[in-house]
Amino acid sequence: MVVFKKIADLQAYLHQQKTSGTDIGFIPTMGALHKGHISLLGEAKKAGCLSVCSIFVNPTQFNDKEDFEKYPTSLEADMTLLLDAGCDVLFLPPVTEMYPAGTEEASKYDLGYLDTVLEAAHRPGHFKGVAQIVAKLLDAVQPQKLYMGQKDYQQCMVVRKMIEIDNRDVAMVICPTQREDDGLAMSSRNRRLTDPQRAVAGIIYQCLVSILTKKGNADFAIVRKECFDLMKHKGLEPDYVELADANDLTILSNYNGRPMVALIAAKVGNVRLIDNMIL
Ligand code: PAF
Repeated sequence: MVVFKKIADLQAYLHQQKTSGTDIGFIPTMGALHKGHISLLGEAKKAGCLSVCSIFVNPTQFNDKEDFEKYPTSLEADMTLLLDAGCDVLFLPPVTEMYPAGTEEASKYDLGYLDTVLEAAHRPGHFKGVAQIVAKLLDAVQPQKLYMGQKDYQQCMVVRKMIEIDNRDVAMVICPTQREDDGLAMSSRNRRLTDPQRAVAGIIYQCLVSILTKKGNADFAIVRKECFDLMKHKGLEPDYVELADANDLTILSNYNGRPMVALIAAKVGNVRLIDNMIL
């Protein structure tokens, strides 16, 4: 695995690789890697791509200073995981490389509706920061394929919109959520859960399954209330339980015949978890 900290060095190396006709598959991350990230890398390798991972904890996507400061980092363990998984290139830029003019630089992306609902309503500015950094990383890496996890469903929609706005020539591959044995979606934030919190966190997945199984024979308002009650009973603090159009995230008041996605955000202690399921 070759490691680069500077865009110019990364690009010089990738330029050589591209001349041999290899596609580049890019996996952007903020580190604290787990099997979910490694599955994205696996998909890039399966597609025969030269795999490029980035680790960069992007300050502009944190609306909460404490969340940024507490974001887990584990560079040594991450590098071992990437090496073992056969990652070809690791891009590890410092903040000054991604934001030479400073992190006050405004995001140019108008994300419209996507920047008003669900996660956006709870984390103002978050998605503008995500669009801004993923665009910068795509400029640096210039991959043919971009691998992202379905776990961050709205983030995938936002990145798809940014790609459309910029008319970028990159294919986005959305990969399935990796889960623990009790269904909890793998997330870097899970490592901040205490044992008792971890023991109840799988209830989010159970709620999604119940939304799926009741599709077609129940009123969503009732199913949503059951999910809220169940999560609260287990000591979670749900932010939302929503049903949305899977293509554009229009919030739905009830099940319909179109492709839908159920989305949940809930706090377990002070750790905020999100998950979703396509219905
Ligand atoms: O999902 C993440 O880890 C981040 O939001 C991303 C896509 C790497 C941008 O910083």
